Amino acid sequence: MRLLVTGANGILGHAIAERLGDSHTLLLWGREEADLTDAAQVEVAARGLTFDAVVHAAAMTDVDRCESESDLAFRSNRDATRHMGALARERGATLVYVSSDYVFDGTKASPYLEEDPTGPRSVYGRSKLAGEEAVAASGAPYLIVRTSWLFGAGGRNFVDTIAGKLAQGAPLRVVVDQRGSPTYARDLAHAIELLLRRGAQGIVHATNSGQTTWYGFAREIAGVLGVTHADITPVATEEFPRPAPRPRYSVLSGARFRALTGENLRPWEEAVRHYLTARSSATAEAR
Ligand SMILES: NC(=O)c1ccc[n+]([C@@H]2O[C@H](COP(=O)([O-])OP(=O)(O)OC[C@H]3O[C@@H](n4cnc5c(N)ncnc54)[C@H](OP(=O)(O)O)[C@@H]3O)[C@@H](O)[C@H]2O)c1
Repeated sequence: MRLLVTGANGILGHAIAERLGDSHTLLLWGREEADLTDAAQVEVAARGLTFDAVVHAAAMTDVDRCESESDLAFRSNRDATRHMGALARERGATLVYVSSDYVFDGTKASPYLEEDPTGPRSVYGRSKLAGEEAVAASGAPYLIVRTSWLFGAGGRNFVDTIAGKLAQGAPLRVVVDQRGSPTYARDLAHAIELLLRRGAQGIVHATNSGQTTWYGFAREIAGVLGVTHADITPVATEEFPRPAPRPRYSVLSGARFRALTGENLRPWEEAVRHYLTARSSATAEAR
């Protein structure tokens, strides 16, 4: 397949390049190719290109910054998506939009199904949901892949932050009352490929298997790194005020993904181990 990938310099973009580059022709777009909020730039950058699908991974992902820069959040997450949708429709390509667990309000106590009512609590969540609506209205064949708690090489992420603090021996306070599924960008890239191969359409949830809290996630990172006496204190969300409210519970059901592909993404703990091992061999090679 020929895939036009946006957000190529981000976490998922890196993983797609690494994982899918051998078996597909990738047209990788970073911000240098086009500011996607500008329809004219998208049109110019796409001139003469042919592709079967657009994997639209670009987004404004700084959840707290979205609260104070709401206009930019909507331009980045809704309007840019509308422009990529128009391009996909014009070229007869499938539009794959990567969306977020933050479209839900977090009041459920069992994994969210694709058809569950949305109720975003933050500007980021509302702007990602507006992106989903733009996709559905685009007229292009589409696939919306909702994921959660993404980590991997190529951008700021929880695993690197915790690993860095542990390396400094810094005490950590980590939220224990938000529950979700950490997801490795490489595994998500694989999931997107599988779904594209099956011709899946509509909304599909794709995360690593299992669930935890941010505190449990931090403990696992410390365990994999062999930091046995890590000073990690569990704290309640209220003790850790942030500009954007987060859902308390945002585990996404993998049932539809399994029905479509016959696969589960591996458990999140295994994925963390893989990432930290790959990260330490990359660091050793760079020395
Ligand atoms: N990170 C998570 O925990 C998470 C969870 C659920 C869903 N998602 C979704 O997964 C997708 C991939 O996330 P990620 O973590 O890979 O994001 P990321 O690392 O922040 O990368 C996003 C990329 O998009 C680019 N971008 C943003 N606005 C742009 C614009 N107007 N024009 C061109 N490029 C633009 C950014 O460039 P600049 O750096 O120059 O701004 C960045 O390179 C996103 O759709 C996100 O909403 C992420």
